[in-house]
Amino acid sequence: MAINRRRFLGGVLGTGALLVGVAALLRPTDKGGPYTDYFRALNQELKRQGPMRPLLLIDLDRLDHNIDAVMASVRRGGKHLRLVEKSLPSPGLLAYICKRAGTQRLMSFHQPFLNHDALAFPESDILLGKPLPVRSAEVFYQTHKGTFDPSRQLQWLLDTPAHLQQYLALAQSLGTRLRVNIELDVGLHRGGVADTVVLGQMLELIRANPRHLEFAGFMGYDPFVGMGVPGILGSADELFAKVMSLYTRYVDFTQQQFPSLWHDGLTLNTAGSPSYRIHEREHLSSEVSVGTAMLKPTHYDLPSLVEHVPAAYIATPVLKSTGAVQIPALDGKSKLFSWWDTNQRETFFIYGGNWMAEFESPAGLQSNGLYGRSSNQEMVNGSATVGLAVDDQVFLRPTQTESVLLQFGDLIAVRGGKIVETWPVYS
Ligand SMILES: Cc1ncc(COP(=O)(O)O)c(C=O)c1O
Repeated sequence: MAINRRRFLGGVLGTGALLVGVAALLRPTDKGGPYTDYFRALNQELKRQGPMRPLLLIDLDRLDHNIDAVMASVRRGGKHLRLVEKSLPSPGLLAYICKRAGTQRLMSFHQPFLNHDALAFPESDILLGKPLPVRSAEVFYQTHKGTFDPSRQLQWLLDTPAHLQQYLALAQSLGTRLRVNIELDVGLHRGGVADTVVLGQMLELIRANPRHLEFAGFMGYDPFVGMGVPGILGSADELFAKVMSLYTRYVDFTQQQFPSLWHDGLTLNTAGSPSYRIHEREHLSSEVSVGTAMLKPTHYDLPSLVEHVPAAYIATPVLKSTGAVQIPALDGKSKLFSWWDTNQRETFFIYGGNWMAEFESPAGLQSNGLYGRSSNQEMVNGSATVGLAVDDQVFLRPTQTESVLLQFGDLIAVRGGKIVETWPVYS
């Protein structure tokens, strides 16, 4: 019996030690850390000069770096750059990038923005990035003001013979000529022309209606080439080769079957942020489209964009600092969370929240799924090492730009850690 009891006790103690060991391994380590120097300086600037509300910062030093990286690649490839307006949705921001990059080419995706662009950028060349319903195109013409001349400076993107017929009828009713760029399916399978029979029908319609339609080029968008698809689906090189063989097939077909429509001034558009770099290697396309890579939100942390640096951050003040996490209804029992997880020993309520964004600085902050997300005053937890106080800023990095940039009123541009400009966004 005695031996058994000793064995039993030994077993219990051993299991206990094992559990403690396992628990120690599982227990979250301190992920917290103070601001880096960069964010410490921004925090001071915003506390002194900022409006103390959630805002969207554009760092012009970092933006310059990204613009220069894009332009170096574009020059190596002997192409032009077209800026994707929806991904940089502020005329001031776009004007800044246009100037530094030396481009007047824009890609627009939304009729109200298109009308703005025509006014704000009267010298620009605008290509639609998707085929808008014909009624939307009609609204553009009805509300268009200023010197921008759509018959010279605008290319409508069209994907099917049916859409093209509708646009032909619009051109006839307006008594104008529409420039038509044809969307090619180069592997994205988001619509667009996918065979030469359909392409032939569209080109025939254009050739037969020279007073109302003008062939302006092709657009073939291939983000998957740079998105890092699982290796089993093909390497970037293999995907790129397929894209280019499709693009080449449509170009060859047009040159051979419709030589009267072909000329050097056509817009042969391709790429997007994830894939623009690889197009340095080909000489078929005349231009690449880039938008989001200029600001590099988190979803663009891609191998193809290693040269780019993040240039857009959300900053928002801490309104309240309430210590260890407390969950309603659990009250005292909530202590378990902060006992177990050092990253839940501090609780901050921030001004706003629940954005499409990831916490950036100070390090180790996290939202609390159990407490719930809030767009008004979001709970944020961290360890004591984050060192945040009321009125300090929490910095986040957007996951994407196109919708996030529109949510904060005027963009705040900083240079050298100081606020230098504010830019309204599109409305
Ligand atoms: C047709 C087209 N071209 C290019 C882009 C690239 O935009 P970005 O560089 O912002 O990823 C997009 C994005 O949606 C697109 O739809």
